[in-house]
Amino acid sequence: MDLSRFPRADLCHAPTPLEPLDRLSDHLGGPRIYVKRDDCTGLATGGNKTRKLEWLMGDALARGCDVVVTQGAVQTNHGRQTAAAAAKLGLKCELLLERRVPHAAPDFEETGNVLLDRMFGATLHFHEVGDGSNEDMNSRVEAHCAALADQGLTPYAVPGGGSNWIGALGYVVCAQEIAEQADARDLVVDWIIHATGSAGTQAGLAAGLAGLDSPMGLMGVNIRFAAAEQEEKVFALARRTAAEIGAPAVDRDRILCIDGYVGPGYGQPTPQMVEAVDLTARLEGLLLDPVYAGKAMAGLIGMVREGRFGRDDTVVFVHTGGSQALYAYRDSFA
Ligand SMILES: Cc1ncc(COP(=O)(O)O)c(C=O)c1O
Repeated sequence: MDLSRFPRADLCHAPTPLEPLDRLSDHLGGPRIYVKRDDCTGLATGGNKTRKLEWLMGDALARGCDVVVTQGAVQTNHGRQTAAAAAKLGLKCELLLERRVPHAAPDFEETGNVLLDRMFGATLHFHEVGDGSNEDMNSRVEAHCAALADQGLTPYAVPGGGSNWIGALGYVVCAQEIAEQADARDLVVDWIIHATGSAGTQAGLAAGLAGLDSPMGLMGVNIRFAAAEQEEKVFALARRTAAEIGAPAVDRDRILCIDGYVGPGYGQPTPQMVEAVDLTARLEGLLLDPVYAGKAMAGLIGMVREGRFGRDDTVVFVHTGGSQALYAYRDSFA
């Protein structure tokens, strides 16, 4: 897998650490859990979007763009990291923020990621929820780009979550890193587990694992869509990414998305998420987030309790970041 022909902006602190979570593993009675610290990717306090943005911003620069436009929920981590990448690279940034989460705290639109978006100099546009799909918001991004082009700017549309095959290259690289770190420690990794939303993280990992011919299993814990829909989305993007990098085709049966941890809806707290965030904080001094990694860890804990892993299995939990949103959800942790 030679990615050197794709333009890339240097944004990421990598390789991110792979650390054992011994106290959490002991508390749960196995498996052996490691955390891949993608909350430490460096850009704007870290998170999974840094890896994707290296390739997306590389493409934007190669095309001579002067403004990037993207979308997400109000507390989008992707928006925060895109705003920071744009600031660092001297581009303008416009964010379309969808009011996707009902019953939010009164300062939801001022604190957490939104505060940081503003600090990075992004222009924010709030939108009421449309048909609730990622595609709907992506088409608003396209329309916004067309309007900016009419004003003489050269816009670059970044899809929600940075999830197209270009962004997914970032997680091809992450799969390579995990494989190298596991080899260096003689670890046999049975499962990689992480939150799956706009699908690029899981698709990139799946394409990367296919390219390495790695037997590691991969599970995404759903944070928004149901498994039937999410698996198809991940599979389509993984297949495309694998084709672009010249990796073997991804098997459909290696794409697993886990239901049961979304709760009432995207970004809405659940007791399992609160337990997972509290437990990880108190046992490991590690901050998860309420929307993504917290629900993914709730999924991992739930599957351990269901007996889905052997005591001696090794699981790598990819911490995709997002703890900046904790401030917007402080009522859940009071
Ligand atoms: C912190 C965090 N974790 C996980 C995800 C999900 O990753 P993906 O959108 O690539 O499926 C996101 C996406 O927005 C995120 O912000």
